[in-house]
Amino acid sequence: MRLGGKVAIITGAARGIGRGIALRFAKEGAKVGIVDLDVAQCQTVVDDIKSAGGDALALGADIADEAQVERTVTKMREQFGVVNVLVNNAAVMPAGPLHLTTPADFDRCIAVNLRGTYLMCRAVIPGMLEIGKGSIIHMSSVTGILGLPGLAAYSATKAGLSGLARAMSTDYAWQGIRVNAVAPGTIDSPMLHDFLAAQQNPEPLRQQFDAMHPIGRVGQIDEVASVFVFLASDESSFVTGATYTVDGGLSVKGEQPQD
Ligand SMILES: NC(=O)c1ccc[n+]([C@@H]2O[C@H](COP(=O)([O-])OP(=O)(O)OC[C@H]3O[C@@H](n4cnc5c(N)ncnc54)[C@H](O)[C@@H]3O)[C@@H](O)[C@H]2O)c1
Repeated sequence: MRLGGKVAIITGAARGIGRGIALRFAKEGAKVGIVDLDVAQCQTVVDDIKSAGGDALALGADIADEAQVERTVTKMREQFGVVNVLVNNAAVMPAGPLHLTTPADFDRCIAVNLRGTYLMCRAVIPGMLEIGKGSIIHMSSVTGILGLPGLAAYSATKAGLSGLARAMSTDYAWQGIRVNAVAPGTIDSPMLHDFLAAQQNPEPLRQQFDAMHPIGRVGQIDEVASVFVFLASDESSFVTGATYTVDGGLSVKGEQPQD
């Protein structure tokens, strides 16, 4: 029970990596708030957690909407007490070269990935200040470190989230709140499956995703969730302002010319 006594909100937790983090947090003893646009799926995750003996609350909300964010944090506090862990995982990913991205898509990407994270932080921090303790973890991505084609708006928000973690850590370190970010490489997730399913010839592409990571494969959801458990727990009590890459070596890989 590495997260006993933790009251954690996880955004975008109805599916994919967020769901995986929620299940692991509950298994480690945290009470978990499942925030997502997909209300029905939030409840399914809560049912899964409860049937495994954990405790959780479904909180359907759009994190880009200030009033919904405030309501979400209030409901969580009424149910479980002060929120002392926040995982900012929800994101959208408009794809394509920048000049073909619509202003509406660009704005929504900023509104969810960056401003939504800001709104969630703004809503939980007063409670964390009351108790003098908290851990906030932003979901960044290797695309916030590396240039990968077709992801300009998304990559800008992911780089922004690491910057936000660094700056926020200096604001709150002395008040007991730690702020970190995690930057995964490609993860075997519904997002990847959807992307591959939309391709004409997915198998060679899947192999390329595996091969581009020096470890020789894409990551698993649980391998990302493990790092979130560490950063949410008191085991990481001296860690703040960091961005942890969980990318099988992708972001540090160099290339040598081949014969
Ligand atoms: N899958 C990968 O390979 C990968 C790699 C690096 C980083 N990431 C990051 O990990 C996180 C999760 O990725 P995933 O693959 O599980 O994505 P996903 O698309 O499967 O899940 C994202 C969830 O966020 C929810 N969401 C979107 N907008 C929302 C909003 N405004 N309010 C509330 N909920 C909202 C969606 O409904 C969805 O359930 C994202 O931040 C993503 O950028 C993913």
